[in-house]
Amino acid sequence: MDDKTVVVSLVHEALTSKGIESLSKESIEKMIEVPKQMALGDYAFPCFLLAKELKKAPQQIAIDLQSTMQHPFIQKIEAVGPYLNFFLNREVVGAEVVSEIIEKQGDYGTLAIGNGENIPIDMSSPNIAKPFSMGHLRSTVIGNALANIMEKSGYTPVKINHLGDWGTQFGKLITAYKLWGDEEKVKAQPIQELLSLYVRFHEEAETKPELEDQGREWFKKLEDGDEEATYYWNWFKTESLKEFNRIYELLGVSFDSYHGEAFYNDKMDAVIEELEEKNLLTESDGAMVVSLDEFDMAPSLIKKSDGATLYMTRDLAAAMYRKREYDFAKSLYVVGAEQSLHFKQLKLVLKKMGHDWADNMHHIPFGMLLKDGKKMSTRKGKLVLLEEVLQDAIDLALKNIESRNPDLENKEDVARMVGVGAVIFHDLKNFRLNDIEFSLDTMLTFEGETGPYLQYTYARACSLLEKASGQTVSSISPEAFGNEKAWAIVYLLTKFEEVIQAAFNEFDPSRIAKYLIDLAQAFNKYYGSVKILENDAQLGARLQLVEAITVVIKEGLRILGLGAPQKM
Ligand code: ARG
Repeated sequence: MDDKTVVVSLVHEALTSKGIESLSKESIEKMIEVPKQMALGDYAFPCFLLAKELKKAPQQIAIDLQSTMQHPFIQKIEAVGPYLNFFLNREVVGAEVVSEIIEKQGDYGTLAIGNGENIPIDMSSPNIAKPFSMGHLRSTVIGNALANIMEKSGYTPVKINHLGDWGTQFGKLITAYKLWGDEEKVKAQPIQELLSLYVRFHEEAETKPELEDQGREWFKKLEDGDEEATYYWNWFKTESLKEFNRIYELLGVSFDSYHGEAFYNDKMDAVIEELEEKNLLTESDGAMVVSLDEFDMAPSLIKKSDGATLYMTRDLAAAMYRKREYDFAKSLYVVGAEQSLHFKQLKLVLKKMGHDWADNMHHIPFGMLLKDGKKMSTRKGKLVLLEEVLQDAIDLALKNIESRNPDLENKEDVARMVGVGAVIFHDLKNFRLNDIEFSLDTMLTFEGETGPYLQYTYARACSLLEKASGQTVSSISPEAFGNEKAWAIVYLLTKFEEVIQAAFNEFDPSRIAKYLIDLAQAFNKYYGSVKILENDAQLGARLQLVEAITVVIKEGLRILGLGAPQKM
């Protein structure tokens, strides 16, 4: 529910009854302000804009309009100068929103803008035989939250892990493995072992250029479906995925499709043919490119001089496949900001091909994870194994729980929710384009803007409800919502839908993260100043308010990808 909508409708009706049709509900909504001072009400509508049309002073217009408006949500309306100030009826609004939340539970805040249409979300997408980077972690976490936001908005998200499982590097890797590989070592630590084979290939190739030729030959064989080449490729992929899947399991993220780059191997010819037919391919140093001169952009490379296709060629095939397969409303790519040019080119090439649906493709870029101000890397010297990081977070959370609540049941499960949740929330609470400083200590504190703080607040509210469960509550007395600190909560509760909508419009999970922090802070202030469990006439209303808070925090955490333990 949204009280602002009520104000918009009231103004709209009042204007139409006076014969003014020039302002739509949308434009009224944009005009409505929230006064800086509480004494001026909850919302204000400025009447200046109407002065010309009505040939009247804005002050007079405000007075004229005021008399015609009435609604149970509105306690009073004052005409102050050129403004109409609306004061909400806190008790009515409070009772209304709280009962709506309790009735709808997790469905509260669900939007019906999507009609079930598909939104493929290209997310995570690590490269086979290479470490799962901090960038892949961010893509996984942000992509998962966006998928939940799309779903909450009425769409059908399709989470696609566009694995980097194709390209000339696989020819090199097969060459290296056949020369120096050891099956047992690969099985024991696939990524680490395959990476070192790959590094060794490059080192040795500096003095033995024939290795490069062998690598190319093996990739050619792979492309042609050679049995041995395919066997190795498949095995590298299976072993790498085993490692990736451990991370996905820890994060609680699943995928609807694992169609990676290799899947498009047999779908690129059609793309190249179409480009040829439409006269878009030009030759440049023996390679085939699509010129993007008219956009002041470097040309997009489609086929190398040796005939090999590229990352771009596969992305073109993938975009077209997704359009055919899902008939998408939007198609998202959650990939680091360093690939912005690639995605700009991808869209422009599709547009040049006449595929206007490319306008519905959105690159969702994000910044880097930093450690002491420097880019965090999972490669070479600065190897930070992601799994270790997550495990450290879980261990720290467990320690914390041991000292606070040693008798807690299923401590391990809770520690996992808290530890992993801390990492996820730390990522999502900032606008995604900002770089983030990675600090386990900061993200795991129970105070401040952290995942554990939210989970702890949730558990605290749950325990109030549990303590009260023996009490019989006869009536709901809405005066409880008039309390200043209760109203701060009610006000936020009415905003949940608006926050989901903003997160949807801007592909921005941090809107929800920040909202949850505000809500938790408002609740903790309430908790600190009101005796919630006191057995008086307002107990029932206070408990309803607490229940409503648990519903919204839990649902918000779920959307972001965090669990909500009842006790911790
Ligand atoms: N595998 C790529 C990388 O690690 C990311 C792929 C992103 N998705 C895409 N459709 N290009 O950089």
